[in-house]
Amino acid sequence: MEWSWLVASLSVLAVGFLFVHADQLPQGFISIDCGAVVDSVDLNNEIPYKSDKNLINSGVSAQISPEFADYSLQYRNLRSFPEGVKNCYTLRPETGKNNNYLIRAFFIYGNYDGKNSTPVFRIYLGVNLWDTITADDFTIEAIYMAPTDYIDVCLVNIGSGVPYISALELRPLPNSVYRTDPQQFMARWTRRDVGGEDKFRYPQDIDDRIWRPYSDSSLNKIQTDADITHTSNDPYKLPELMLKTAHGTLNSSIPFVYEWTPEEASSLFYFCFHFAEIEKLASSVREMSIVLNDIHTIAQSVILQYLIPQTICSTSAGLPVNLNQQNYLRISAASGSDLPPIVNGFEIFYIRNLSLSPTFLHDVNAVMDIKETFKLLNSEWQGDPCLPEFSVWNGLNCSDSNPPRIISLNLSRSKLTGEIPFSISDLTQLETLDLSYNDLSGPLPEFLAQLPLLKILNLTGNNLGGTVPEALLVKSRDGVLNLRVADNPELCLSPPCKKKKKKVSILPVIIAVVGTVILIIACLVLLLIYKRSKKKKSMKSMEEKISLKQKHREYSYSEVVSLTNNFKDIIGEGGFGKVYKGALKDKTLVAVKLLSSTSKQGYKEFQTEAQLLMIVHHRNLVSLVGYCDEGNTKALIYEYMVNGNLRERLSETSTNALSWNERLQIAVDAAHGLDYLHNGCKPTIVHRDLKPANILLDDMMQAKISDFGLSRTFQVENQSEILTQLAGTPGYFDPESQTLGHLNKKSDVYSFGIIIFELITGSPAITRSHNGNSIHLLDWVGPVMKKGNIEDVVDMRINAEVNNNSARRMGEIAMSCTHPNGDQRPDISVVLEELKECLATKNSFRKL
Ligand SMILES: *[C@@H]1O[C@H](CO)[C@@H](O)[C@H](O)[C@H]1NC(C)=O
Ligand SMILES: *[C@@H]1O[C@H](CO)[C@@H](O)[C@H](O)[C@H]1NC(C)=O
Ligand SMILES: *[C@@H]1O[C@H](CO)[C@@H](O)[C@H](O)[C@H]1NC(C)=O
Repeated sequence: MEWSWLVASLSVLAVGFLFVHADQLPQGFISIDCGAVVDSVDLNNEIPYKSDKNLINSGVSAQISPEFADYSLQYRNLRSFPEGVKNCYTLRPETGKNNNYLIRAFFIYGNYDGKNSTPVFRIYLGVNLWDTITADDFTIEAIYMAPTDYIDVCLVNIGSGVPYISALELRPLPNSVYRTDPQQFMARWTRRDVGGEDKFRYPQDIDDRIWRPYSDSSLNKIQTDADITHTSNDPYKLPELMLKTAHGTLNSSIPFVYEWTPEEASSLFYFCFHFAEIEKLASSVREMSIVLNDIHTIAQSVILQYLIPQTICSTSAGLPVNLNQQNYLRISAASGSDLPPIVNGFEIFYIRNLSLSPTFLHDVNAVMDIKETFKLLNSEWQGDPCLPEFSVWNGLNCSDSNPPRIISLNLSRSKLTGEIPFSISDLTQLETLDLSYNDLSGPLPEFLAQLPLLKILNLTGNNLGGTVPEALLVKSRDGVLNLRVADNPELCLSPPCKKKKKKVSILPVIIAVVGTVILIIACLVLLLIYKRSKKKKSMKSMEEKISLKQKHREYSYSEVVSLTNNFKDIIGEGGFGKVYKGALKDKTLVAVKLLSSTSKQGYKEFQTEAQLLMIVHHRNLVSLVGYCDEGNTKALIYEYMVNGNLRERLSETSTNALSWNERLQIAVDAAHGLDYLHNGCKPTIVHRDLKPANILLDDMMQAKISDFGLSRTFQVENQSEILTQLAGTPGYFDPESQTLGHLNKKSDVYSFGIIIFELITGSPAITRSHNGNSIHLLDWVGPVMKKGNIEDVVDMRINAEVNNNSARRMGEIAMSCTHPNGDQRPDISVVLEELKECLATKNSFRKL
């Protein structure tokens, strides 16, 4: 009774154990049945294969044609990739990176597409070329120390047919076996069981290597029934089945020779020979040497021990072989040994370089997270983001460093929703981020300001809310970052931000409607009155214009050549081209601005615009005397300004510093000029690039604004000019209008405010600190202004003569002009009045 109970429970235990065993083994194996609808099991060895339906989003599954049905189940399906250059499986072995793996891929074409023509394509292991698949029933194998926790196996279309794959396998190997240079991996050429009968793999080989029999009837076949002694010192875990058979030569003077003709592109090979003495020898021991092509000694002396496995591999990082020629491996009895050589098994590999490193890991993880977050099932987003270089993920740009880094991410118009993902902050080399025209919501995150190299940030046309982080605005103002956030209705550029509209009760609505109607009527009445009064004025200005037109005219190219004395005297170089000194026939000096015409079409409507600009006439604007529009030559001819520009006069190297009074006068003059452009001209002219270099001084030290009206007209043609022109000049360019993408009068007022600060301090808008960082004038003047210590920042050269009240007054005007919100900046006409007052006060001080 008791015994039978014990036996029964033991057998239950044993069955349970077997089940667990079968479930657990093979440890760490990954086996993928590509294109299969359901999982399957190989009936020969019970290895389970997983369908790839959840492992890859691209490709289509297919089945080989019925006449090939004798293939095992896992080879009867396949996945083909008619779309995309690169399609990848990503293997994630349990033991992760820096471990040794055997990876195998099977390609059974089996006329699945009915075309009876095997495609030719490439397969990459990670970012490095593994092999070219050229024939039906192709198996390739690599032994690979993975540098990452994941291993991409990518099929690459090279234009010779649709890539496909039948099965993919990964087997862990001990790290000590088959090792060469870490910069290389090995691809199998052949693996032979010498003297064996049949092909075998797992479970006979615990590491699931596939062994094919090798037999040679001219040799002696040797075999044993004795058990192989497995010592602890057997890292190769050689299968007994392979070791128990061998071939030996007829006598000791005949070597064992293996001949083969490699056709591989790689001319470096790696060899392993496996031995165990399986003949019971009376006294002597078998001793052998191994030589490649009679030149390279792989082993000087191999001494076999009875039933003990031994592996000899070539030690150097690949031995050279002769491509497309016969090569010979010779195993000979060592001199003095009278026993013939025997061989139990051998493996031959060719070496592949791992010269390319995969993209920097943090970058990969970041874009993988972005792909995940936005559910980008884009077929191009597979495998390594940057490599091979012909298959960079679309929307990305990478540096060509090793490892590559992601430097640009452009997901404009990609139907993105949700918040801007935090993982973007890991793309630390990012220079360009374009997420424009999506449906992104949530805040504009602060971390974007921490990306040290970011130069372009375009978030136009989304649904972002909250405020733009101060740090981004500062970068934009300093010209470090091209920031675009227009068309985000809920986004506020800088506080105070309007609160979201609350529910409106009906009464205020009625009041508002009635109010609006009254307002409209009032406006109409006012407009009528205004129009009447204006009629008289415009009559007068027409007469003025006509008289001007007669003085100003179009010049031919030859005239331009002669008046500039063949472009002899360059006096400047601006955004639009070089400026030459010249003289008209009546000896009037002129400055000729030759527009560099990089674009073939030239500047559209140049003539119309030039004529328009000639009409604009004010004593504080540099007059356009004429223009030239002949063929490719486009030139603008201005009156000549003897005293150069304000920037030169303010620079540290200037010999005659401007006095405080001169500076005040220049500010008033420039404000007059700008007021005329903004409020005197119809339509209004926004300057767009106001800066001290564009404020010129005539012989009477009267300031005149130049280059007005140019950016708008001449930005259209040349792409690079659009960028520079929209960006204006860093330091002077209103961060708000750049960010929102529209320029207006208030942008000019901002630039004007910076100019006033420059007049006070003598320092340019942006200076470089000793460590190369740019520092904006507002960063150091602003805090001083708040403390009321303006005297601390006044230009040293005029410190003695400056009245602090006057300087403080100027500083306050400049502060109001540079308010971050355009709406809160005064109109230039207001600025002008205040400056005039300031000038008057200063003068009255002097009189006292
Ligand atoms: C080894 O075998 C070869 C070929 O059968 C023969 O010619 C040769 O004499 C043999 N050598 C010895 C030492 O027996
Ligand atoms: C992003 O791509 C779109 C077109 O796909 C292009 O118009 C835009 O200029 C690109 N952005 C940048 C910053 O290059
Ligand atoms: C976003 O702005 C950048 C910088 O101005 C520009 O180069 C890019 O073309 C813009 N993107 C689109 C889609 O217009």
